[in-house]
Order: sequence, then C-alpha cells, then structure tokens
Amino acid sequence: MTAAPDFDTLYTAHFGEITARTESALAACGFETLWIHSGLERLAFLDDQTYPFRSNPHFIWWVPHTEAPRCLLVFTPGQRPVLFFHCPRDFWHLPPALPEGGWTKHFDIRPVGDWAETLAALPTPDARTALIGEPFPGLEALSPAVLNPPALLRWLHEQRVRKTPYELACQREASRLGVTAHRAARAAHGAGESEYGIHQAFLAGCGQREMELPYRAIVARGPHGATLHYQALDQHRPSAPTSLLIDAGAAFRGYGSDITRTWPASQDGEFADLVDALDRLQQALCARVRPGVSWPDLHLQAHLDIATLLRHAGVLRVSPETAVDTGLSSVFLPHGLGHLLGLQVHDVGGFHPTPHAPALPPPAGHPALRLTRTLEAGMVVTMEPGIYFIDVLLDQARQGPQASGIDWEAVARLRIHGGIRIEDNLVVNAGGCENLTREAFAAALI
Ligand code: GLY
Ligand code: MN
Ligand code: MN
Repeated sequence: MTAAPDFDTLYTAHFGEITARTESALAACGFETLWIHSGLERLAFLDDQTYPFRSNPHFIWWVPHTEAPRCLLVFTPGQRPVLFFHCPRDFWHLPPALPEGGWTKHFDIRPVGDWAETLAALPTPDARTALIGEPFPGLEALSPAVLNPPALLRWLHEQRVRKTPYELACQREASRLGVTAHRAARAAHGAGESEYGIHQAFLAGCGQREMELPYRAIVARGPHGATLHYQALDQHRPSAPTSLLIDAGAAFRGYGSDITRTWPASQDGEFADLVDALDRLQQALCARVRPGVSWPDLHLQAHLDIATLLRHAGVLRVSPETAVDTGLSSVFLPHGLGHLLGLQVHDVGGFHPTPHAPALPPPAGHPALRLTRTLEAGMVVTMEPGIYFIDVLLDQARQGPQASGIDWEAVARLRIHGGIRIEDNLVVNAGGCENLTREAFAAALI
C-alpha cells in the first residue's frame, strides 16, 4: 500500500513553480500584475435561481477552492499574492467558509463582503494589469488589451500543459474516486438498474453531487451508446440485460478524471468479442504513448487498427487502408483519440506547440481531434478509441459511394448495442506513461 500523498508539501512546490511560470508569462506579454477572477454566479432568465457555478480554471490552478464565486486573486511578481475572498454576511445562503489548509499560508487572504470593498483596496487597473476571467461590476469597461488578452492566455495555457507533481497527485486521486464510482455503477448495472439508477450509484460511489463532477456523466444503455454525449438518463429498468457505455469521472481539488467503460449484456457473442478486441487495442495504443510521439499520427494509427479490427469482425469489406483513406473508418469513430486533461476535461493547450506558434490543424478528415501536438513528459492525456453504430452516420454512408465497403447485415446485428468506448487517463513520463485508470482499477481489487 503506498502512503497517502502530502498535498500541503506538494502544493508548496506547485506554488513556487506556477509563480515562476506566471512571472515568465507576464514578462513575455508586457504585464506587471495579474488579476484572476474566480467567476460569477449566473441567474436564469427572469428567475432568481442560478446555474451551477463553474470556477475559472486559472483561479483554481492557484486556489484549490472550487465553490468560491466573486473572488479575486492579485499577483504581482515579487509580492505575496492577495486573495480577496468573497464571503458576504448572508442569511439566504451559506457564505463560503474562509479557506483553510496548508495552501492558505502562501496568500494574504482578505475577506470581503462586496466588489466595492475589493476595488477600494486596489489601484485602478492600467495597461500593465491584465484580468483573466469574467469582468465584474465596476470593471465592465476594461479595454480588450487587458481583459483576457489572447497572447497572455496562450502563454498561461501553455504553462498548464505540463502538470506539476501536485497536479499529478490530484489527478491520481480524481482517478481513484472515479474508479470507485465506476465500480458502484457497474454493480448497479448488474442489478438491472435504469440509467438514472446507475447514475445515482455513480454519484454515491464518489460522494459527489452532479454539479461537482468534471463533466456531465454519460450513462447509456444499449443503442443510447451511439449518442456520443448521451445525456437523457432513462428512468426505466430494462426488462432484459443490455450493454452499458458509461463515461463518467470524479473531481478532486478541481482536477477531473474522464473514464469510460463498456460492459456488454453478456460475456458471449459478437458484441462482447468486439468489446474485448477494442480493450486489447486500447491497451496496445497506451503502450505507444511516450514523449516525442505525434498525437495526430497515433490517432491515424488507431483508425488503421480499428479498421483492421472491423475487417476481421466482418463489419468492413474493404482493406483497412482503404477504409481510412476513404473516411469509412470515421463512420465508426467520429471523435478524436483523446485530449489533454486537467482542470478542464478538455484541457487547454492542445493545439499550439508554443505560445508564439500558430495552431496545428488536425489531419484532413479528422476535425474533432482536440490534441494536435507531440507528446511531452508531464502531459496528461485520455486514450479513448471507440466503435459506434450511429444512425445518422451509417445512413449517410449507405447513400454514399463507399456503401459497398460495409457489411450491412453485420451492422444491423450490432447497432442495438449502440457503441463501445474504452477510456483511460495517462500521464506521459520519461519512460512512457503511467495509466492512472488501470492502476486505480487494479488497486481497487487488492
Ligand atoms: N467525456 C468526454 C470525453 O471523453 O471527451
Ligand atoms: Mn470521456
Ligand atoms: Mn475524454
């Protein structure tokens, strides 16, 4: 059993590292001070109810507090950062508790009741002060040159791409929680629960509310698995066993896991064989992850591997190379092989190799790829190949010039199962990668 990480010690090193990274970003972009706003709660139209609050991820990079709207972090190189912490005297809602924990010693924390108090304590921002986040009352008229300046954002995004040891410890914990919840969800599926019931089991498994999850969980039985971001949560218990595609993650200190498993209705049969084959293929792809690997090349390799698998399974009637070249493989896999992961489930920094360089486009015919860079140690990526039977894409293919490349009888047999996705979270390291998801599943069995 490995010892629990000491998050306070890890955070101290993280704080030092992101201080240096932010100083370099400010210097490169000609700013002297950075303000980071955590974000505003948003009212629904004509209502007094707010949407769930999602904090500015740049704020959480510094301040591991995800439920703190209207806070402002002020960072000036060489000075202790000031955190204006919004905690109004309210009796309608519980104000956020003043932050506690080892990380707080790095900040000058000033409780404030409203914006006027924050602004009164600060100089009027000039051209040397940049604000990252939503403008807030009193600052609506900030010039675009200082409000989320694109060049500075690109620099800061680049600083978030290679995770610090603290961030990796948070990712590991998010994976552990996500896997615990996946195991609870699988048990609920085995007990014949509805999609809604499985979702409830997932939430109970990780002890998080729906609004705390890093993204809306996808709990899709049978043909629902063909909708990539299926969200309906059917309340009916099925009358007979069905397959389940569950794509759901848990959060820890703002960092998220993004995990998908597909469970066939029974361990035998054509669909179960396809799930097993994709699982092996996914692990072979994970084994290729290391610094220096081009992610677009790996994405294209995955298409070739999946087309090979579909040819062997009798779904494709053309060579794997032809299937990739003509776009037929994309009928079965229309999304990217994976993406950067961190404070955002589709984390920033996936396209620009450096802050100065233009974005690298995805390969022709693969517009959904969200990571077009070469892998580097410290990146966290998802590996999520899939095979889906999606009506809208199959119908198009059936009308198109490549229709004879598909065995439509095989498709007719398989489409009731929706689709398959196997998704793990990987830390790229000098020797290859660490598979956070498989390690968490293995640890849960010990
Ligand atoms: N859960 C969203 C994704 O896998 O990208
Ligand atoms: Mn996912
Ligand atoms: Mn993903």
